[in-house]
Amino acid sequence: MPERLAEMLLDLWTPLIILWITLPPCIYTAPMNQSQVLMSGSPLELNRLNEEQRILNRSKRGWVWNQMFVLEEFSGPEPILVGRLHTDLDPGSKKIKYILSGDGAGTIFQINDVTGDIHAIKRLDREEKAEYTLTAQAVDWETNKPLEPPSEFIIKVQDINDNAPEFLNGPYHATVPEMSILGTSVTNVTATDADDPVYGNSAKLVYSILEGQPYFSIEPETAIIKTALPNMDREAKEEYLVVIQAKDMGGHSGGLSGTTTLTVTLTDVNDNPPKFAQSLYHFSVPEDVVLGTAIGRVKANDQDIGENAQSSYDIIDGDGTALFEISSDAQAQDGIIRLRRPLDFETKKSYTLKVEAANVHTDPRFSSRGPFKDTATVKIVVEDSDEPPVFSSPTYLLEVHENAAINSVIGQVTARDPDITSSPIRFSIDRHTDLERQFNINADDGKITLATPLDRELSVWHNITIIATEIRNHSQISRVPVAIKVLDVNDNAPEFASEYEAFLCENGKPGQVIQTVSAMDKDDPKNGHYFLYSLLPEMVNNPNFTIKKNEDNSLSILAKHNGFNRQKQEVYLLPIIISDSGNPPLSSTSTLTIRVCGCSSDGVVQSCNVEAYVLPIGLSMGALIAILACIILLLVIVVLFVTLRRHKNEPLIIKDDEDVRENIIRYDDEGGGEEDTEAFDIATLQNPDGINGFLPRWGMPTQLWEERNPIQT
Ligand SMILES: *[C@@H]1O[C@H](CO)[C@@H](O)[C@H](O)[C@H]1NC(C)=O
Ligand SMILES: *[C@@H]1O[C@H](CO)[C@@H](O)[C@H](O)[C@H]1NC(C)=O
Repeated sequence: MPERLAEMLLDLWTPLIILWITLPPCIYTAPMNQSQVLMSGSPLELNRLNEEQRILNRSKRGWVWNQMFVLEEFSGPEPILVGRLHTDLDPGSKKIKYILSGDGAGTIFQINDVTGDIHAIKRLDREEKAEYTLTAQAVDWETNKPLEPPSEFIIKVQDINDNAPEFLNGPYHATVPEMSILGTSVTNVTATDADDPVYGNSAKLVYSILEGQPYFSIEPETAIIKTALPNMDREAKEEYLVVIQAKDMGGHSGGLSGTTTLTVTLTDVNDNPPKFAQSLYHFSVPEDVVLGTAIGRVKANDQDIGENAQSSYDIIDGDGTALFEISSDAQAQDGIIRLRRPLDFETKKSYTLKVEAANVHTDPRFSSRGPFKDTATVKIVVEDSDEPPVFSSPTYLLEVHENAAINSVIGQVTARDPDITSSPIRFSIDRHTDLERQFNINADDGKITLATPLDRELSVWHNITIIATEIRNHSQISRVPVAIKVLDVNDNAPEFASEYEAFLCENGKPGQVIQTVSAMDKDDPKNGHYFLYSLLPEMVNNPNFTIKKNEDNSLSILAKHNGFNRQKQEVYLLPIIISDSGNPPLSSTSTLTIRVCGCSSDGVVQSCNVEAYVLPIGLSMGALIAILACIILLLVIVVLFVTLRRHKNEPLIIKDDEDVRENIIRYDDEGGGEEDTEAFDIATLQNPDGINGFLPRWGMPTQLWEERNPIQT
């Protein structure tokens, strides 16, 4: 059965040109196995070729194949023989010529057209071009006619280890935390080799460390770099240079190699506690320093960096814990001591503090190394300063009755010089706060006296400022506010709260409330006002009015009977005594005017006047003119009425010849001068019935009169 298959294959593969592979002797030393030949073939093809090869071997026809091999980088003195073309054709009498065409024909590969020998005339580089496809043909030497169809074959360039491994991404940088355990992976690097990775070991790389031991190691195959020492300390050495080598040929001698550098930086972990540079700090501060002022700085050094070096500062003990505070300055990594409460040299001259610096970010792995904190002692010396006087109180509140006598003492302020020198003090009033010079102060003892009388009803508060000055140093001055409150004394009598005007209805019932009045008092008694009302003793039993006090401190005035008549008496005056509840009480008499008026049946005041009486003062000018105009109009109507009655038998027709214009007063008429003021005698008008009494005036021509009064005949 294999025999028959072989036969069949031979039929299929009877190439007219058989390639004799003639390889240079050196190639035989290199493994020349079937896998190389069949590299581009499929499994089926592989079987077939194996079979065929066996058959060919058996038939002693030698290596015949459509592939040739040539070593790259060969550079002998002669062109290298790649192979030979041979045809099985019986040439007969004809001479055969071999022709080569395709990739590199004539330029890289040359053929001897008689023998069919193919030579490579140039040095070949597999990494540049790994195979060439060429076509061979046998033609008639004379006619150049093809003696058979062209046949294609391949020349493969065989790899030799002519490329060294290369680290394309180097040099490398990597970090690893300090204090890492042994074998902690740092990074990995990769080298590449341009040689054929599937043929031979030319591209088989092995990595090793040339420099950087004993700190780091590399896995030969994977190139993973690891720490080779435990607990490397950043504070001792931070940066390491590692030289890595990649070698091909599986690391065997004769292989090519490439190197690269890797810089490994150890990153910080918190493995160092803070440590104060000094165990004792000395600061001094003046006693009058402003609160919040920085008094000094303490610093604990830490070999770590970044947040691992951060410490928070605290005052943990000492006799000044209430007066001082410490804050942490993250930038400078130190602690600032500040004043929190005022200092007093005279009370205490020095303080001792125990301060602590503690790492903020600790690492539990190193807790066994002890607490990551440190303490130091701070001594603060208070310096004496010349201080201004100090009042016994920050403010004073004094009270004085408004009737206090001039020069009476209202109160006293005291102050002292806190310094050891203890200068005497002088007091004065800041006159800007007492413009009216209401008060005086005794410069030596600080007693405040009254200079001018007080009136609570004018001003309740007198807020002044007292100045204390040290006699030995006039620049040491203090000021204190003194509020003086004026207390009430009953010095004002009560009176009506407003001007009341009461109206009494003629038709009112007995007991009707005519008016309700209330009283006011300028004083300000502690328990509020309580007023007493009464009538004058001689009025108590009067028949007309009575009074009644209301709950709300007001007073009602009531009518006693209903017999009031404005014709009889229009106005009543009712004096009322009002007294306050002071000690002693004060009283005054206010008089209520009661007017009798006519009212409607439901008690609404209609009219309070019987007849025209003296014009009430306060009538406006306009009202007066209006009233006057009304009176004149009324008089004119009356005059007209009377005159008409006198001539009631005469027709009231004006004749044509009587010029109507005559009735018009002409302003261009020459007046009678001062005499003319009697041109109209008002008396004639005032006496309408006095027709008999009518007389032409003296000195006035009758004619003129008639002209002016044409109706009269
Ligand atoms: C004066 O001081 C008192 C108490 O401090 C205060 O109640 C009052 O309003 C002050 N009066 C004036 C006019 O400043
Ligand atoms: C009471 O009224 C009458 C008249 O109405 C009067 O004559 C008398 O003087 C009045 N008495 C008082 C005390 O007003």
